[in-house]
Amino acid sequence: MHQIAYFGDLCRNRDRLRKQLASLFQIEFRPLQSSLDTQLGHYSVFDFDLNDTTHLLKLKDKLKSRPKDAKVIFVTEKASRLQDTRALAIGATDIIHRPVEGRTLLAKLWGEVRSLADERPEFAENSGPGVAAAADTLRAIFSAACTGAAPDQKAIQSAGDAVVGQVEEQGLAAWIATVRAHHSQTYQHCLLVTGLAVAFGQHLGVSRADRQRLSFAGMLHDIGKARIPLAILEKPSRLDEAELAVIRKHPQYGLDALGTVSGLPPEMLDMVVHHHEYLDGSGYPHGLMANEISDLVRMITIADVFGALIERRSYKAPLSGEAAYQILTDMGPKLDRDLVLAFRPVASLGQ
Ligand SMILES: [Fe+2]
Ligand SMILES: [Fe+2]
Repeated sequence: MHQIAYFGDLCRNRDRLRKQLASLFQIEFRPLQSSLDTQLGHYSVFDFDLNDTTHLLKLKDKLKSRPKDAKVIFVTEKASRLQDTRALAIGATDIIHRPVEGRTLLAKLWGEVRSLADERPEFAENSGPGVAAAADTLRAIFSAACTGAAPDQKAIQSAGDAVVGQVEEQGLAAWIATVRAHHSQTYQHCLLVTGLAVAFGQHLGVSRADRQRLSFAGMLHDIGKARIPLAILEKPSRLDEAELAVIRKHPQYGLDALGTVSGLPPEMLDMVVHHHEYLDGSGYPHGLMANEISDLVRMITIADVFGALIERRSYKAPLSGEAAYQILTDMGPKLDRDLVLAFRPVASLGQ
């Protein structure tokens, strides 16, 4: 985890900023004075009144001794050329404007961090109402999660309905064939899991309300990935341990992002935060055991694992439904045995 020292007292949204940066940076807010007394680290942000010249000369001296390649970002008023000029004269390596947003700051600190919210919208124009609605909704909810805004529950609900309608009308195979064409790995995955979860629910004969819940959860389950840099999320090769540790934070980030949505049923949040838990306690983030994991979560987990296996990736061919199903079976005590058996026809439906 990288440290950012944030000097000055003008930041008004500290908690939000902390959360927005949490996948990569730990941010520590300090008084301006302490920047003069301590050794500067690799990442510093200065957010104070630049019209007040009291400390400017000392600060300029201090910044001369900053570590090589250190990033020093000054926060200025958007309309003030004078403040920008002053900041650069003191030793800023970059400038951002108030109010400070997490994504802007991340982009400055971490090169050009792209995120899923920047995805182009042209996918899904001729792919049926369910796919189009789900793809649009995914982009909207990921972009809301990126900026700390609450996702639009009504839009998710109606996209969820549209997916149930389309999967039931046209079948799972057509759904999979369409969503595999999505250029974004993460969106493709969420759309696959949504279709699989709906088909699974349909096959098990669960109520329409539960099928809608599964659809809703399929779209939302990985929403926490909105806070993970695209460079890690869509890396076209294996992830190393440090990158995996970052990825493993996404269920908690998902819960954080959705915690702000009022009236969201608890079983939905349960599916989001626990879809990587295994019955034998070897999952994350909470290492839950069998009786702590609900049936809907068990179903989403099966759809999630299977979906990841049959995805089209730039560096490997997708597994066949049969091969992927074999892997599900081989996972033994991690997954619900009866549900895995019940999933078999769904796995072959998707061929
Ligand atoms: Fe996930
Ligand atoms: Fe997933």
